[in-house]
Amino acid sequence: MMTKEAVSHEPVMLREVLAGLNVQPGGRYVDCTVNGGGHTEAILFASAPGGSVLGIDADANAIERARSRLSHFGSSVALVNGNFRDVDSICRERGFVPVNGVLFDLGLSSLQLGAAGRGFSFQHEGPLDMRFGPSQETTASFWVNEASEADLTDVLWRFGEEKRSRKIARAVVERRPLRTTTELAKAVEQAVGRRPGSQTHPATRTFQALRIAVNQELATLSDALPRALGLLGFGSRLVVISYHSLEDRIVKQFIARESRDCICPPRQPVCTCGHKATLRPITKGALAPSAEEVARNPRARSAKLRVAERVAAA
Ligand SMILES: C[S@@+](CC[C@H](N)C(=O)[O-])C[C@H]1O[C@@H](n2cnc3c(N)ncnc32)[C@H](O)[C@@H]1O
Repeated sequence: MMTKEAVSHEPVMLREVLAGLNVQPGGRYVDCTVNGGGHTEAILFASAPGGSVLGIDADANAIERARSRLSHFGSSVALVNGNFRDVDSICRERGFVPVNGVLFDLGLSSLQLGAAGRGFSFQHEGPLDMRFGPSQETTASFWVNEASEADLTDVLWRFGEEKRSRKIARAVVERRPLRTTTELAKAVEQAVGRRPGSQTHPATRTFQALRIAVNQELATLSDALPRALGLLGFGSRLVVISYHSLEDRIVKQFIARESRDCICPPRQPVCTCGHKATLRPITKGALAPSAEEVARNPRARSAKLRVAERVAAA
């Protein structure tokens, strides 16, 4: 579990993504997390001639950057500034369905992490914002300065898996108001100290927890996966890269559930649910990046990639 570092924005596990999506010439693909357009560009090259990508990102700046990078692909690429929670309506409104593959490369990019004004990093002084896009109702400042101590503790515990959540929440509440990322990082460090020999800043989990809460990342992912599944034609692929255990658990459980013909409780002798499998796992467990990739791009080191294929319900 970790926050990606501002090292490079090379697309993570690119070879595995292209193989996982089984990209074919003429295919139609959805990239739910375009950011710099690295994966999108590679999919466009691999699906030529005739391939197309619909790319989505909640971050308007990322969409603008991707638009200029990908302009030479002309009408083969459509870019939408939106939330992937709405992936089904975004695709259907554009007649982009069924598709041959859907990609999610979750979290945030090194460019976003490094942009002080976004407030994602304790390494840069910035406002307590952390929104991927302006449509989010709250900023990190709400959790830091307005939420109750109990709610803040809960967020740190659930979304940061932070064992010292109570202590940190107490320290934050006592120091209110906190205005910037560095003030928050200092408050956390003063509350819990640095672990001797640890390379990880004591505020790492706090920042992750707040970002997940602000963007409702886990609920959004849980909503988006079935909607993405509904866009896939038979034999089409779902590829998800996650960067911490909470996201990966959601993906793993979704694929496991949708790969079963019955989801009745295990002790129930006769099936009453009528559930039919619509996915087949392609990866056994999750794939990790190669040692070479991690050495070249440390941002990749916590990546876990899962692939599943749409099958016809029996
Ligand atoms: C790790 S980056 C993707 C990098 C990209 N694959 C590339 O090759 O450059 C994740 C992106 O997902 C976007 N994102 C995160 N949650 C989102 C959501 N719910 N809807 C749309 N975009 C989202 C972020 O704004 C960020 O740009």
